This record gives sequence, structure tokens and C-alpha cells, in this order.
Amino acid sequence: MKKNRLFLLFALLMALAVTVSCGGGDTSKPIRVGNIADNEHDPAEWGKIYPFHYESWQKTKEPKPANRSKYRKGWDKDRVTYDRLSEYPYQALLYNGWGFGIEYNEPRGHFYMITDQLEIDPSRVAPGGVCLACKSPFHKEFVKSKGEAYLKAPYTKAVDMLPSKHKTLGVACIDCHDNKTMGMRTNKWHILKGMDLIGKKEFNHQDNKMLACSQCHMTYYVPRDKAGKTAGDVIPPWTGAKWGNISIEKIIADLLTDYQREEWTQTVTGFRMPYIRHPEFEFFTKSSVHYNAGVTCIDCHMPYKRVGNMKMTDHDITSPLKTEPEMRACAQCHTESADWLKKQVVTIQDRTSSLLNRAGYQTAVTAKLFELLHKEQKSGKKFDIAPYEKAKKFYKEAFLRVVFVSAENSTGFHNPSEAGRVLGDAIAYGNKSEILIRQMLASGGVKAPEQVNLELSKYLNNRGKKKLMFQRNQEAKDPYGTEDIFTPVNARGY
Ligand code: HEC
Ligand code: HEC
Ligand code: HEC
Ligand code: HEC
Repeated sequence: MKKNRLFLLFALLMALAVTVSCGGGDTSKPIRVGNIADNEHDPAEWGKIYPFHYESWQKTKEPKPANRSKYRKGWDKDRVTYDRLSEYPYQALLYNGWGFGIEYNEPRGHFYMITDQLEIDPSRVAPGGVCLACKSPFHKEFVKSKGEAYLKAPYTKAVDMLPSKHKTLGVACIDCHDNKTMGMRTNKWHILKGMDLIGKKEFNHQDNKMLACSQCHMTYYVPRDKAGKTAGDVIPPWTGAKWGNISIEKIIADLLTDYQREEWTQTVTGFRMPYIRHPEFEFFTKSSVHYNAGVTCIDCHMPYKRVGNMKMTDHDITSPLKTEPEMRACAQCHTESADWLKKQVVTIQDRTSSLLNRAGYQTAVTAKLFELLHKEQKSGKKFDIAPYEKAKKFYKEAFLRVVFVSAENSTGFHNPSEAGRVLGDAIAYGNKSEILIRQMLASGGVKAPEQVNLELSKYLNNRGKKKLMFQRNQEAKDPYGTEDIFTPVNARGY
């Protein structure tokens, strides 16, 4: 182990040395012939100077090897689109009330980011042009030049405003690179706003590399007016947080401050709710072992590769389990075999998935008990509702933690012990809320059953215009079987 550690340190230093030694913060630059115009959005133009990078960047269009990843099955060579709500059926109940409860697919390559929005149930892009924040490279410019006319335009109208050649262009060279130096840059207002909120002013090369990804792989909310309509560009809920410590506690505290952060109404409870989207940046940088060791997203998702005698950064961004050879990125630092490394990943994900099931079902049971309480109140029954506000607050605390870990796209790998901590708290909050609701119900003489029927088939089937159905074979069952004890299959109602 000691020898391994020394190797890791050496490998890490070498990785840093490569990036530092070339000066100006750039990596080993291929020889450059010609200039790239300022504000050039077209990757094909950048490709005239960097053909290998352009070719590599285009590869996110190709499906990846199937059956490599246990939990992150995208649109791989089996050409199956995986349905998040079938994988985690309780989420169909929790998200019922807006787009995420209708159609919610596992991600695929960067090439498809706008295509996938155009193909998804229209309810998912209801907020309008603002939905292009983490998709189109024109977003930043359009927010400035067209403002609310673009942000609030119905989604398809906003896409129509994009230059005809680039309507489906997703993340482009200009999002990550300065055209003159090829150094790292970002291309979103919300990441600047975020850095302001956490008071981060100085950035080293590692920070800049991480921000190239994090400008999209971070959480934000679509601010709303009193009527629930889009009120501006997306905003990170980072009030009071610090770089390296954007905790779930700070995120939730921010999200629960006012109606501007409440984006939808949850059907089962009737509560106005905030939401958390893809928090890879927040989760990874919260003191994970890899983050603390100076490793960035790039090391694992854009490993070096050889083309002829040139060493270059692989721009075919995907899961490290789906590269050729498998786990190639990890092998830059780790000496263990690909099998061993993969087993570490899957073991971490099994544990996270099991806890996520526990926390998710707990939260769903609590939601159903709120539904029962509200129904009984409507029918005129009187209860001692002193603990109501506390039960509601605790329920939201549980719900948002479940969303946080579930919307984070590594199924726990980016920060395993943090996933455990957050889900442990989710279970405790959900459980405490359940006890308080049962107490209120009992005060009015209503005896709730021990096993609450979740009626999941009601939420899982006939979703949206496409009438999507539960795909039973895609369910991510608890790998240890424990969930079948707490929420037996007959109580799930699917
Ligand atoms: C402009 C926003 C944006 C930037 C910048 C960005 N991503 Fe993404 N990323 C997305 C979106 C959106 C998706 C989902 C695409 C889909 O499913 O259509 C995605 C998907 C992915 C996937 C899943 C790919 C697959 O094969 O299933 C990985 C891995 C990923 N991103 C990693 C990264 C890394 C690492 C970086 C930085 C080098 C990065 N992303 C930069 C928006 C972005
Ligand atoms: C130490 C290596 C490592 C680092 C650092 C890392 N990741 Fe990952 N990432 C992984 C692994 C492993 C997975 C799980 C892949 C799987 O199960 O197929 C993953 C999954 C993902 C996914 C989902 C991929 C999919 O196919 O659905 C995204 C998106 C992602 N990472 C983005 C990021 C971003 C953004 C950062 C930096 C903030 C980052 N990663 C840092 C190793 C890493
Ligand atoms: C999602 C962000 C992202 C996008 C999009 C992107 N790059 Fe990169 N690129 C990177 C990162 C990260 C590095 C590595 C930087 C480092 O290690 O210092 C890199 C490195 C490079 C380098 C330096 C040489 C090397 O291989 O390390 C070139 C040249 C380059 N990219 C060209 C392009 C071109 C051309 C495009 C568009 C077709 C593009 N990149 C799109 C993130 C991106
Ligand atoms: C840039 C170098 C680098 C890359 C790339 C990298 N790691 Fe690591 N990894 C480290 C370092 C450094 C540590 C901390 C080692 C220590 O302190 O013992 C570590 C620790 C780990 C640990 C132990 C974590 C813990 O909680 O103790 C696992 C498991 C691991 N890495 C798996 C992976 C996998 C899987 C990949 C590829 C997806 C990967 N690593 C990619 C450098 C790297």
C-alpha cells in the first residue's frame, strides 16, 4: 500500500508537471497554424487548426460499449435509452407534478444535448429559453443581447432564435477554450454569479480545468415570479457557501428561503418545491479523497491518449468505464488492474444505490402520509396540528437530500462517504417527519397502516404525451435486498 501511495503521488506530480511546464497555463500545445476568430462558435472552424481535437470532440456522437457500466447505462451500443423513473420507481411518485415526473432519461454523449431536449416531453422545457443555459454555446451572448425576450420565450421559439446552422450545437470549443491562447475559459453568466456568491477570486490551472466542466455540471434553479413563471437566467443556490465546501446544508438553506426558488408543486403533498440539478461540482469538491489529492474531472473523463507520436487530451468525454481500454483514465495514476478498479467503482455504487433506495422509499412513504392527512382534513376531521410545520420542513430536508444524491451523476463514486452522510441524514429527516405525521393522524383518531400503499403504478404508467410505461427490467433493485423488508413489493403498488 505504501508503495502504491508513493506511485500515486508521483503520477499526480507528473500530471501536474505536464500542465505547468508548458507555461501560460496551457497543456502541451500541438503546433498551431493559423488563427481562430474572436467569437467563433463553429467547432469546424477550430477544427481547421486542431483537426485531431475536432475529430475527438465529434466522437461523443458515437454510442459507447454496452454492459460496461452497472449504474450509468446511457444510450450505449445496445441503443436503449434508460428511464430514470423505472430505475428508481419511487421517484415517479416524488417528482409527480412537473416534467421530471413525466420523462427523465439517463444522459448520453455531449453531441446530443439539444437534440435530447427537442425530443423529450415538452413539459420538461416549459421554462423556455432559460433551458438552454447548460446546452447552447450562444446562451451567454443571447442573455446579454436579447435578455428576457429570449429567456422567457417558449423553448422552441428560443431554439429558433439560434443561428440556423447551430440549432443543435451543444458544448463547443468556445465554451472551454480561449481562442488565442487555448487556455481554459467558461461561457456562462451563472458560473460567474456563483464564484461571486462564494467569494472565489483567484483561480489556479486545476481550478480552471474543473470549472470548464462545472459551468454546466453544477446545480442551479430557474428563478420564478409570484405566478411561478420564469423570472431570469439560472442562479446557483450557494449563499454562504465556500469554494471546496458547498455543502448540501447550505444549498438547502438557500433553496428554502423564498418563493423565487420554488419551481413546481408536488402532486402528492401539494407543497411548492425547489429542485436540485446535476450537482457534480458541489459533491466532488466537498472534500472527496480525489479532490483533496488535487485530481480534477479532466483526469478521469479526458485522459491523455496517443495519436501517432502526439500525446493529446481525449475530447470524447464519457464514463471511465466505457473507454478503450477500460479504466484507462484511472491507470494514469493507479497501478492496480482494470478489474480491481472497476470493482471499487461498482462496490461504491451498490452501497450508494442501496442507501438511495432506503432514503427514497422513506421519503415516498412520508409523502403518502401527508396526502392521507390532507385528505382527512378536507373531509372535516380535526387534528392537533402543532407539529405540522416541523414535519413539513423535515420532509423537504429529506426530499432535497434524495434529489441531491440521485441527480448527482456518479451514483456516489465522486465522493462515497459524503453520499453516505447525506443519505443517512435524509433517512433520519424522513423518519422523524413520518413519526410526527402519524402523531397528528392519531390525534384525530385516524390509524394509518404500518405499510403505506405507495400506489406507484399510478405515477409510473401512461406518463405524458408518449404514454410512457414502467420498464420493470430497468429497476435498480437494492443489491442487498434490505429494501424488500422495509417496503415490501406489495406496498409499492407497481
Ligand atoms: C455546456 C454544458 C456542458 C459542459 C461545459 C460539460 N457538460 Fe457534460 N454534459 C452536459 C449535458 C447537458 C449532458 C447530458 C447530454 C444528454 O444526455 O443529451 C452531459 C453529459 C455528460 C456525461 C455523460 C456522457 C455519456 O456518455 O453518457 C459526462 C461523463 C460528462 N457530461 C462529463 C463532462 C465533463 C468531464 C466536462 C468537462 C470536461 C463536461 N461534461 C462539460 C453538459 C455539459
Ligand atoms: C477519480 C475519477 C473521477 C473524477 C475526478 C471525476 N469523475 Fe465523474 N465519474 C467517474 C466515475 C468512475 C463515474 C461513474 C461511471 C460509471 O458508473 O459508468 C463518473 C460519472 C460521471 C458522470 C455520469 C456519466 C454517465 O455516463 O452517466 C458525469 C456527468 C461526471 N462523472 C462528471 C464529472 C465532473 C463534472 C467531475 C468534476 C467536477 C468529475 N466527474 C470528476 C470518475 C471521476
Ligand atoms: C468541455 C470542455 C472542452 C471542450 C468543449 C473542448 N475542449 Fe479542448 N481541452 C479541454 C481540456 C480540459 C483540455 C486540457 C487542458 C489542460 O490539461 O491544461 C483541453 C485541451 C485542448 C488542447 C491542448 C492540447 C491537448 O491535447 O491537451 C487543444 C488544442 C484543444 N483542447 C482543442 C479543442 C478543440 C479544437 C475543441 C473543439 C472542437 C475543444 N478543444 C473542445 C476542454 C475542452
Ligand atoms: C490524477 C491521478 C488519479 C486518477 C486519474 C485517479 N485516481 Fe484514484 N486516487 C488518486 C489519489 C492520489 C488517491 C488518494 C490515495 C491515498 O491517499 O491513498 C486516490 C484514491 C483512490 C481510491 C481510494 C479512495 C478512498 O476513499 O480511500 C479509489 C477507490 C480510487 N482512487 C479509484 C480510482 C478510480 C476507479 C479511478 C478512475 C475512474 C481513479 N481512482 C482515478 C489519484 C488518482
